[in-house]
Amino acid sequence: MPIISSPHEFNVEDLYLDLRRVNGTPLYLKCEGFNFAGSIKLKAAVAMVDAAEREGRIGPDSVLVESSSGNLGIALAVIAADRGYRFICVTDPRCNSTAQQLMRSLGTDVRVVSTQDANLGYLHSRIQYVRDLCATSDRYLWLNQYANPDNWRAHYEKTAPAIAASFPDLAVLFVGAGTTGTLMGCARYFKQHRPDVTVVAVDAVGSVTFGGVPERRVVPGLGTSTRPQLVDESVVDDVVHVSEPDTIRVCRELAARGFVLGGSTGTVVGGASRWLAEKYPGEDPVAVAISPDLGERYLTSIYDDHWLNEHFGQDGPFTHSHWSPHP
Ligand SMILES: Cc1ncc(COP(=O)(O)O)c(C=O)c1O
Repeated sequence: MPIISSPHEFNVEDLYLDLRRVNGTPLYLKCEGFNFAGSIKLKAAVAMVDAAEREGRIGPDSVLVESSSGNLGIALAVIAADRGYRFICVTDPRCNSTAQQLMRSLGTDVRVVSTQDANLGYLHSRIQYVRDLCATSDRYLWLNQYANPDNWRAHYEKTAPAIAASFPDLAVLFVGAGTTGTLMGCARYFKQHRPDVTVVAVDAVGSVTFGGVPERRVVPGLGTSTRPQLVDESVVDDVVHVSEPDTIRVCRELAARGFVLGGSTGTVVGGASRWLAEKYPGEDPVAVAISPDLGERYLTSIYDDHWLNEHFGQDGPFTHSHWSPHP
């Protein structure tokens, strides 16, 4: 029976969903949404704040600052509330109002930057806002998830060894790419400890992380409009890009089976099922994909028919009528 006194002390690290019996995808889905921050980002947030404390970078007057489209902001808000730190989260209009409200309820000062950058995203504008703020006083400590090595180390030390221990016969691991912290931590771990495992990055069509052409994207979670500093393609075996309609179709399909999961889970499962069908036709390698969060944060986007009609048109293939027999 876990008994805790700090929110980060509880995290479900060993829950896998067998998608064969859910939607026919030959994949185990590692569910990372069961903790008090509701996402995998809790691990990166704890690792970055712990390192800053260890290195004496946080003083009594410090104000933590971070740019986040939601989940890291929520995770840092939880840690800051627990440890008594002030925290400013710089976000953009794609961060839904529930996430903003959640951070505010934890005592975070939420700043919404609505200037789009040249790549049709907000990342550059958000980071410029953070830089300008930090230039005004030494009190501000920017954790910078896009370049902070403790972001990927969290997954090198926790996520990847947990997967390796659960799946001694693992052949392929699929990891979505945002800051690429999860991807880099897992890819480095498997390259060093289990080089036989193929690590496949899953990104959104329209993201520039692996050199794609920037496009307007509306699904929050994965993908970038500015290439993250953490990314090192030499440790990644392959990259697959998934369109937003495919992401939404997979999310809706899983929800119709009782599993309401986050947008990037749809992207990763969509990419994994396509990649496996292409590379292992008719075979059944042991494959795992990481699900970063649950679906409640997406009720006003992916799971809302009005939002879908607005962004993808009425005849999108992913309304509630999308139903198929159980596999
Ligand atoms: C829902 C969701 N999926 C995926 C990611 C990407 O994870 P990473 O930043 O480790 O690449 C994030 C990051 O914020 C996220 O919030």
